[in-house]
Amino acid sequence: MLQGSALVKTFGDTQKIRVLNRVDVHVRPGEFVAVMGPSGSGKSTLLFVLSGTDRPTEGEVLFEGVPLSSLSDNRLSDVRRTKMGFVFQKPTLLRNLNILDNILLPHIADKTDRSALKEKARTLMEKTGIGGLEDRDITEVSGGQLQRAGLCRALLGDPRIVFADEPTGALNTQASEAIMDLLESVHETGTAVFLVTHDPKVAARAGRVLAMKDGQIVSETVFSQEDRATRQKSIPQILRKHNI
Ligand SMILES: Nc1ncnc2c1ncn2[C@@H]1O[C@H](COP(=O)(O)OP(=O)(O)OP(=O)(O)O)[C@@H](O)[C@H]1O
Ligand SMILES: [Mg+2]
Repeated sequence: MLQGSALVKTFGDTQKIRVLNRVDVHVRPGEFVAVMGPSGSGKSTLLFVLSGTDRPTEGEVLFEGVPLSSLSDNRLSDVRRTKMGFVFQKPTLLRNLNILDNILLPHIADKTDRSALKEKARTLMEKTGIGGLEDRDITEVSGGQLQRAGLCRALLGDPRIVFADEPTGALNTQASEAIMDLLESVHETGTAVFLVTHDPKVAARAGRVLAMKDGQIVSETVFSQEDRATRQKSIPQILRKHNI
C-alpha cells in the first residue's frame, strides 16, 4: 500500500547533509512496521517523507499506487486527512479548544454528518479511557490523557494507515501500554501501522522491525509466530549486532 523507493532527503544549502540515503521501504496493507535506530539516524524524516508531510529530495513514494509527487498540495492534504492518521510524541492539540473539538478538528470540513462524527469521537474517547473529558481544555488534562486524545484524533477518520512517531515517548509504562493496546486493536481491524520508537517493548508489537543507521535501513526482522516476550528479547540483540 505504501512504497518508498530510493528516498533521499538532504538538508542545508551549502553543506548538504544527507539524512536519508537511498532508502527503499514498503508497508503492506494492514501491516505493522516498527522503525528503530539511534537519535539522528533519520527515523522521523523517513516517517515525514513516507506520509507526504515532507517531500523527498530524490526518490518517490507511492501510496495505494499513486505517486505522492503527482498530487497537488490540496489533493495531498485530502489523502492525508482521509486515509492517514498521525500520532506524535507531543500531540499537537490546540489550546482554548476542548478535547472533543480538538479530536474533531481535522474532520470539521468533512461532508460526514457532524453528530455521527461526534458520536464516534466519544466512542473512541471511551475506548481509550478518556471518556468524560470532552469539555476539558487541553491544559486541564495529563500528558497521558493528551496522548490518548491525539490517538483518538488520528483514528477518527478510519485511516488506512497510522503513522506514529514515538507515540509513547513521554508516557509511563501503564499509559504507554494502553496506547499500544489501542494501536494494536486498530491494527487487528486491518489498519496498517508505521511506528517509530526507541522502546523494544513497543517495537515488539510489530510484525516487522526495521533498524536505521546513518540514513539507511541496516536490518529488517520479520516476526511471525514469536510471542511478544520473545520479540522483545531479540530486538536489543539485533540492534547490538549493528552497533546501534
Ligand atoms: N529541517 C531540518 N533541517 C536540518 N536538519 C534536519 C532537519 N530535520 C532533521 N534534520 C537532521 O536530520 C537528522 C535526522 O533527523 P531525524 O529527526 O530524522 O532523526 P531521528 O532518527 O528521528 O532522531 P530522534 O530519535 O532523536 O528523534 C538529524 O541530524 C537532524 O538534525
Ligand atoms: Mg525522531
